[in-house]
Amino acid sequence: MNMSQITITPCSPHVGAEIGNIDLTKPLSDELRRAVYDAFLKYGVIFFRDQDISFEDQMRLAGYFGHVHIHLGGAGTASKPAEGFPAIRKQHFDENSKRISGEVWHSDQSCAEIPPDGSILIQKILPPNGGGDTLFMSAYAAYDALSQPMKDFLENLTAEHDGAKLFDKGKVDEYPRAIHPVITRHPETGRKLLFVNPGFTTRICELSKEESNAVLEMLYDHIAKPHWQMRFRWLKNSIAFWDNRCTQHFAIWDYWPNVRSGYRVQFEGTVRPSR
Ligand code: SIN
Repeated sequence: MNMSQITITPCSPHVGAEIGNIDLTKPLSDELRRAVYDAFLKYGVIFFRDQDISFEDQMRLAGYFGHVHIHLGGAGTASKPAEGFPAIRKQHFDENSKRISGEVWHSDQSCAEIPPDGSILIQKILPPNGGGDTLFMSAYAAYDALSQPMKDFLENLTAEHDGAKLFDKGKVDEYPRAIHPVITRHPETGRKLLFVNPGFTTRICELSKEESNAVLEMLYDHIAKPHWQMRFRWLKNSIAFWDNRCTQHFAIWDYWPNVRSGYRVQFEGTVRPSR
């Protein structure tokens, strides 16, 4: 298969594209890998439909783009390792679930010193009447839309990201914690973006608690604006493949007590988020 055979259909002006005419159950040529990676960089999140992939296929796909990552959250997370594949997280939610993974705007594991670059999630079971969509937003577009004085104010600030905030609602202290710039620059595209999220970010280090809370609340409202979002409707064997360096996502839990069940793998980053 050569690169010209894949199709790329943007989903919204700022984020997301659907990739067609590709079979992820088969190894990809170098040319196809490059085309997929270029689309990932350009659109922030890419989607595939009707991909009945195995765990081996999912691991191979992630392995094209980086070292496959073992999730940091441990027992406090809502997902569990898939049997025999510790790097694959089973994200299964049903009538017994007390919470789900990712029901807040976040980029995956921004609490790590070097968060995973990419996440690849496939859904195998979906609620019968719809629901369980995922929202994605462009952290580039959110940054671009800030006024110049606000960009200047945020430019040299840093923020703490704490795994305990999302993974265990602040009950334990065993999760990773990291300090990252509030404004980062994507290491591959060179574009600037807003790198705080309500899932993990706890405070802006250089401000008082009151100032930090007020600024973060304003930024979280800004992140959640529909102008730089898209909403992905899953079907069985749909895949979403997102870049944690420049997007955030929000999984909607509107399907209880129905089942939504899928598997996610991630590949590691190589550099700390930086300006
Ligand atoms: C996540 O990885 O944050 C969950 C995304 C989803 O289930 O849609």
